[in-house]
Formats: sequence, structure tokens, C-alpha cells
Amino acid sequence: MVEPRIIRTPIVCVLGHVDHGKTSLLDKIRGSSVVDLEDGLITQHIGATLVPIEVIKARSGSLGHLDINVPGLLFIDTPGHHAFTTLRVRGGALADMAILVVDINEGFQPQTIEALQILRTYKTPFVVAANKIDRIHGWRINNDETFLKSLSVQGQRSKDLIENKTYDLVGKLSELGFNAERYDRIHDFQRNIAIIPISATTGEGIPDLLMVLIGLAQRFMMEDLILSAKGPAKGTVLEVKEERGLGFTMDVILYDGTLSVGDEVVVGTNDSIIVTKVRSLLKPLSLHEIRVEDRFERVKTVVAAAGVKVIAPSLENVIAGSPLQAIRDNKDDVIDLVKREMAEINVKISGKGLTIKADTIGALEALSKELDSHGIGIIKASVGPVSRHDLIEVQTINDSLSSVLLCFNTPLLPDAEDLLKDPSLAYVKIFSSNIIYELIDNYLEWRDEWRRKIEEQQFEQIVLPAKISILPNCIFRQSNPAVVGVRVLSGRLRPDVFLVDRTGKRIGHLKTMQLRGEFIHESAVGQEIAISIEGATIGRQIDVGVDLYVDIPEKHVKVLEHEMLSHLSPDIQLVLDEFTTMKRKNDPFWGK
Ligand code: GTP
Ligand code: MG
Repeated sequence: MVEPRIIRTPIVCVLGHVDHGKTSLLDKIRGSSVVDLEDGLITQHIGATLVPIEVIKARSGSLGHLDINVPGLLFIDTPGHHAFTTLRVRGGALADMAILVVDINEGFQPQTIEALQILRTYKTPFVVAANKIDRIHGWRINNDETFLKSLSVQGQRSKDLIENKTYDLVGKLSELGFNAERYDRIHDFQRNIAIIPISATTGEGIPDLLMVLIGLAQRFMMEDLILSAKGPAKGTVLEVKEERGLGFTMDVILYDGTLSVGDEVVVGTNDSIIVTKVRSLLKPLSLHEIRVEDRFERVKTVVAAAGVKVIAPSLENVIAGSPLQAIRDNKDDVIDLVKREMAEINVKISGKGLTIKADTIGALEALSKELDSHGIGIIKASVGPVSRHDLIEVQTINDSLSSVLLCFNTPLLPDAEDLLKDPSLAYVKIFSSNIIYELIDNYLEWRDEWRRKIEEQQFEQIVLPAKISILPNCIFRQSNPAVVGVRVLSGRLRPDVFLVDRTGKRIGHLKTMQLRGEFIHESAVGQEIAISIEGATIGRQIDVGVDLYVDIPEKHVKVLEHEMLSHLSPDIQLVLDEFTTMKRKNDPFWGK
């Protein structure tokens, strides 16, 4: 008897610029609303949805006459923000084909181009969904209608607008080396990229999009889809969680082969790999996304492509984003392969910087890439919840700006929470968020504030330049200490500094300052105050009418000139210049 052919479900990856409508498109196709359930309404992980062929047929009326063999389509949503390149690369690499979503009104954006580069690198066939046609000026909405039918009832102006906008996309794709055309004008789908105008909001054009996708799969992918269904399972771990009554489970996207209960699989952990045996397999009911659904059916075997929840022993240290491979007869080779893939995790570590933790490899890579673009270094990066050990490591860094932990979408373990109550840990700063940019923005805000404080402290400790002149008829005491009235000519005068005359000769130690009988700690330009000078006698070292400078130590001059100059007022800069010029008359390298 001839064995019935198993045909694998093709994986369709949805790519495109942030907010161009990828999640909305999938929502429309499955008739749900994942968008409302996402944090910050931005897709941060790869999610998978299986849409069976019956649903696709129902939603794309005109497919009825086609003889269809594919069991459905597994859609993978990907995040659009540029920080998520690595996640998108994974999605792109997994996919049999892709939908590149472009907002027809905004055209190509940086991440559209980046997505195209990924598709080119992986030679993934794709179509372009030119989304948001309902926003075209004067567009008359025809819910869930095919694009061509809806187009036929539009006014001439809308027709012209959509024609022009579509040709803008054709032109842009051509500049990038792709031949493209509106799908209904294409004769050879292997040579031309199909552009399908759609609206994810009204559903217009979605029947056409599904028809083109199924057509491509049927025509050009059948061989691959038949062959790869029979091999050992290959997949990517999306998420690892402990679940009531089930223990540790992992959500996996199976992109190749067949996975059965009893199969041995290899997966990656934080520092190594494990081999474990599949105890049970739970499949989300079709049309439900594995990330947000908790309705499953128990199955003995799953054929790719599919999203599946795997239950097996020893999963507690498996990390999200790791590869999964089933063992058939070549155990060592499979272990080697998974080890090699795990070693390729792409996080740039430097000798200085922050510690980061995230829930998945993809998120860790995304966070590190984003930090890198802000010029922020990473000293250590790992996947999983924050432990006591993590906190102690951060604490030993001993530099307030680096004793910082950024946690993306990952909790603190109870022993870490306990340790936080210990006052000696006060200077470990922890930032947590499940939105990457928020995490980075919060960190940057804190860092800038902290730097400002450090600068302020420095300002307090540095001797600042000032120039004063002793007023006539204001000698209150001759010596021990001398008390005289002075006018602050420029700069900022503070007590506890030495004073020098115009030749640089030390006069005495300015001990206290008084304004109208009150002690003061700082005085501004133009003020007339009384000061006490230890070690000087009026009429001997100094006289009425002479100008005096604050004697700034050489070390402080270096800090002022090299680190603080831009924070000094022009007036202070001028006195500093006068003072250093005087000092450098004898020694040109003084304070340099
Ligand atoms: P990321 O996951 O952050 O990359 O975004 P996304 O591409 O998944 O975009 P999403 O589906 O979240 O949509 C972004 C916004 O555009 C939402 O407010 C949607 O309601 C809106 N939107 C999406 N498609 C359409 C459309 O066809 N027409 C209109 N008018 N709005 C749309
Ligand atoms: Mg999205």
C-alpha cells in the first residue's frame, strides 16, 4: 500500500516596519484581537497562529475551485521595531514564505528595508501587503471584499491615488533589485513579487492575499513541504513556563519534521544543553495563538509546521529562543549541532557597563543591540529570572554607574527579593520593564540625573576662580586675623581658600565671609562683604586698593580646564584665564 503523503503546513512569517499593521492583519485573518493583549501594544516575541485551510477557504471565497493540498498556514508574527532584528532574523529563517507589510500611505521605512534584506539573505519567497488602503483619501469601505471588487466601486480620484501609491512601491522595490507588480497583473509569480493592496481594519484585499499565498505554496513549495514532514523534529523554543498540574513546559514552534510522544530531544539551557524525553504534547486549538491561549488538545504526534506545548522532564533551565532538535539515530551529531547554535548567541560583551537579564535569547540580543546603539556597554548578559547570585555579582562591580541591572520581562526570584531588603545592597540599581525602549529610556533618565549630581558634587569640592579688591576705609581689624571689606570683581568666592596677589605671591588664608553680619558660604559678582584673612597684616602683605585672586591648586585647575569648562560661566572662565596666565608666566606648563 502506498503511504499517504504527509504535507507540512507552510510557515508564513509576517514582517514589516513598526505599526504598519502586522498584528492587525493576523487578527483579521483569525478574527481575534491579540493586539489588545500585548504590552505597549507592540509585538515583542514571535507568536504563532495556525489557520486551517477551511478557514482560509471561507475567508477567500474565490479559492473554492482550487485543488488544495496544504493543510493550512502557520503564521508567525514578528516585532517591527528595529531593536528586534535578531528575532526577525529567526522568524525569517524559519519561514517558507513571508508577507512584507507596508503602510501604503507611509511607504518604505527603515525596517521595511531591513526585512527585505533578511528575506533576500534567506531567499524566502514573499508577497507585499500594501496595508491601510482604507486611509486613502475618499476610499469607500467594502468590508471583507476582494480588492478588485472594492476597487471597481471607488471614485476616479481614489483609483488614481492607489495606482500611484502602488507604483511608488514598485519603484522602490525595483531600486532594491526586486521586480514587483500588482498581483492581478502578474503572469509569472516566480519572477515577480506580488503586491496586494489590503486593509487589516476593513478586511478588504485579505481574500486576495490568502489566495496568492496558498497559490504560491501549492505551485512552488510542494516538494519541500512533502519531504521535510518526515524527518526528525526541528524547532525553536518560544517560552518556558511552570504550569499548574503540568510542571515545566515549553512552547515550541516546530518548523520541520514530526515530533511524537516518547521522542528524545536536545534543547539549550543557560550554560549547556540537555537531552530529555517528550512526555506529552499539547496543541493549541487552531486559530488561537500559542502565546495567549490556554485551550489545548492532547496529541500523540505533531507535524511541522506547528506551535506546540511540550511537556518533558528537566525543562526548568531551558531558555527561550534555544533550538530544539529530536534525536533519531545520530545522537552525537544532534548534540553537537545544538551546542554550536547555542554558542552563536549574539550579545556583545565589554569589560565595562551594565548587567542585563531577559526572558528569551531573542530579547536579550535585542536589548543588547539597542544598548549598543546608545553606546552603553554590557558586562554580563543572561537569560532567566534574577537570582540572589546575580545581585551579588552586580554589587561587586563597585561603580555607581555600572552597579545597574536591566531586567527585560523577567522577575526577581524570592531569594533576590530578600537580599534587596539588605541595606548594604542599596546602591544596586534595578530597572524592570517589558518594553525595551521604556527600560532604556528609564535607565538613561536615571543615568543623566546621576551624572548631574556627581558633577554638582564635584563643583562643590573644587576651588573656583574669583577676583576681589580690598575696599578703602573698610579695615575692621589689622591682623590675627585681618578683617576687611572687599568687593567681588568676578568669579565665585567661597571661604577656606588661599589668596594671592597679582604676582602670584600668597597673602593669607580666607577663613570666613560675612554679609551684613551673617556668615555666608558663597558670594556673587558685585557683592561687597567682609572677610577674615589668617596670616596677613594690613599694610604689610597687602594694602587697600589691591586686587587679589583665589589661589586654585594645580590639580583643580586641571579638572576645571579639562572636565568642567563647558559648565563654567563666561565670567568664571575669564578669571580662570587671568589666573592661569599669571601662573604660567613663570612655568608655561603649570596646571597642564
Ligand atoms: P508592531 O508589532 O509594533 O511592529 O506593529 P504592527 O505592525 O503589528 O502594527 P499593529 O497591527 O499593532 O497596528 C498599528 C496600528 O495601525 C494600530 O493602531 C492599528 O489599528 C492600525 N492599523 C493597522 N492596520 C490598519 C488598516 O488597515 N487601516 C487602518 N486605518 N489602521 C490600521
Ligand atoms: Mg505587532
